[in-house]
Amino acid sequence: MNKKWWMLGASAVLSVGLLAGCGTNEEDTTTSEDPVDTGDTEEAVEDKGVLIMGTSADYPPYESIDLTTQEIVGFDVDIAQYITDELGYELQIEDMDFNGLIPAMESGRVDFVLAGMTPTEERKQNVDFSDVYYEATNLIVSKEDQNYTTLQDLEGLKVGVQLGSIQEAEAEDLAEEYGFEVVKLNRIPEIMQELIAGRIDAILMEDTVAKGHLEAQQDLVSFAVPSEGELGSAIAFPKESELVEPFNEKLNELIESGQMDELILKWFDAEE
Ligand code: ARG
Repeated sequence: MNKKWWMLGASAVLSVGLLAGCGTNEEDTTTSEDPVDTGDTEEAVEDKGVLIMGTSADYPPYESIDLTTQEIVGFDVDIAQYITDELGYELQIEDMDFNGLIPAMESGRVDFVLAGMTPTEERKQNVDFSDVYYEATNLIVSKEDQNYTTLQDLEGLKVGVQLGSIQEAEAEDLAEEYGFEVVKLNRIPEIMQELIAGRIDAILMEDTVAKGHLEAQQDLVSFAVPSEGELGSAIAFPKESELVEPFNEKLNELIESGQMDELILKWFDAEE
C-alpha cells in the first residue's frame, strides 16, 4: 500500500526547497496577484497560509484513517497534498459525515471538499466543482449464500446506502421499480456492519470502495448496477470560489505528468 511514498516525499522536499528560495533572489516572481502558478517549477511558491479540506474518512482508498498513525490517508489526500503544496498552501483536513460536507463548506468551516464526491446537477446548485479526476460505477454487495444476482432478487429486502450520497438517490429510484427498502446510514463501515450482522440484505456502493471490502470479507459478492446519473469524483468548492481555476490547473498537471497514474496504481491497484 505504501509503495509510492517516495512521490509524496519528493514533492514535500521540492516545496520546501522552493520556499527556502523565496525572498533570496527571486522576489519578482511572487509579486503578481495572480494565484495561478505558470507551471514553471523553478518559480518560487508564495506561502499563502492554510486551506482546510473537508472529507469523510470512511471511504478507502479515497480516504480513511490509518490505524497506526491515526492520520487521514488516501488517494484524495495525496491529490490535495500535491495541489496545495504546488500552490503554496498548508493543508489541514477535517473529518466529518459525508452528509455534512456541503453544509460545512457553505458555512465556511472548510475551504474545499475532497471526498470522492460526484459532481451532480443538484449539488452544482450549491457548490462549484473541479474537473472529474476519477470515474467509478455502482455495485450491489451482498452475502454470497443469499445468491442475489439481479435487482429483481432484492424485492422486499433492505438495501443500505450512505446518507447524502448519489447511491442514496439512485437506490431511491431503483426501490420504486424493484420494491426494496432503502436504509440510510452515515458511515460506510457502519453499513458494512449491518450487512454482516444480517440487519440489511445488500449495499449499493461504489465499485472502487467495495473492492477492499470484498477482498477482506470472502463471503461477500457483488453485481454491477448500470447507472443513469452522473458518476465519478471531483473536488468541490464554495460557489464562485477563486480556488477552482488554480486547482484545475494543478489537477491537469498531475494528470499530464503521469503522476496521477502513479497515484491510481498506488491506491486502486495495490495488491495489499
Ligand atoms: N461518489 C458518491 C457521492 O458523491 C459517494 C461519495 C462518498 N464519499 C465518502 N467519502 N464517503 O455521493
